[in-house]
Amino acid sequence: MTDKIESIAILGGTGDLGGGLARQWSRAGYRILIGSRTLEKGKAAAEKLLNEFPDLNVTGHENLDAATEADLVVLTVPFAHQLSTLETVKPGLTNKILIDVTVPLVPPRVGTVQLPEKGSAAVMAQELLGDDVQVVSAFQNVGAVHLQEDHDIECDVLVTGNKKTARETVIELVHAVGLRGWHAGPLANASAAEALTSILISINRHHGIEGSGIVITGEPAKE
Ligand SMILES: NC(=O)c1ccc[n+]([C@@H]2O[C@H](COP(=O)([O-])OP(=O)(O)OC[C@H]3O[C@@H](n4cnc5c(N)ncnc54)[C@H](OP(=O)(O)O)[C@@H]3O)[C@@H](O)[C@H]2O)c1
Repeated sequence: MTDKIESIAILGGTGDLGGGLARQWSRAGYRILIGSRTLEKGKAAAEKLLNEFPDLNVTGHENLDAATEADLVVLTVPFAHQLSTLETVKPGLTNKILIDVTVPLVPPRVGTVQLPEKGSAAVMAQELLGDDVQVVSAFQNVGAVHLQEDHDIECDVLVTGNKKTARETVIELVHAVGLRGWHAGPLANASAAEALTSILISINRHHGIEGSGIVITGEPAKE
């Protein structure tokens, strides 16, 4: 496991959430490898970011190349393609942390909680990848719209994973995005964060909010 994270692969980083994370982390100084099913699409997404911010360290790749080259990998594809994408990049993930942002939404009823039989998408990912990969679940409750803009984001991030050290690494990356991250327990608890997204979608619809989020109250005794 790499101690110091300098490069991050974002698989499906051509999309809404991955694109937002690429923007935020590259501006925070990380080397970003945008992964895609096609090299052309990955490169185009990197170019788009570089047109806006020419000094960033961002490149486009196919998903497996991005995963293999980076210190840490983030999966940002729709639930329907979560496991098939992980199958294709599995050889590049050994001894790495994989941040899984997947929300197991089942269209068209995305405002209704419909968790998978195994309990959560994150648990499914860990089961597929085995113990050589540390799956950490995060960012399910942050609307992509906030990450694609430059404004303060009033939303906390629940970080679940079976190893405290892996959660700590991810919480550092959450801070780099300008958000607060919380140790929310083992990966099995990812089901709560994943379920919460459908509740937030329902709140958005009913109250006309663009990307509602959650905030944890209370003062930590220590950071
Ligand atoms: N959007 C949000 O606000 C938000 C918030 C929290 C969590 N999430 C979670 O983040 C993940 C990504 O959401 P998103 O809204 O960013 O999704 P998206 O924009 O619809 O798609 C992301 C990327 O997934 C890849 N993809 C699409 N179809 C695929 C397929 N058949 N096989 C493999 N890859 C495919 C595409 O990349 P290429 O075509 O380049 O391969 C696409 O750019 C989801 O699991 C979602 O639940 C989203």
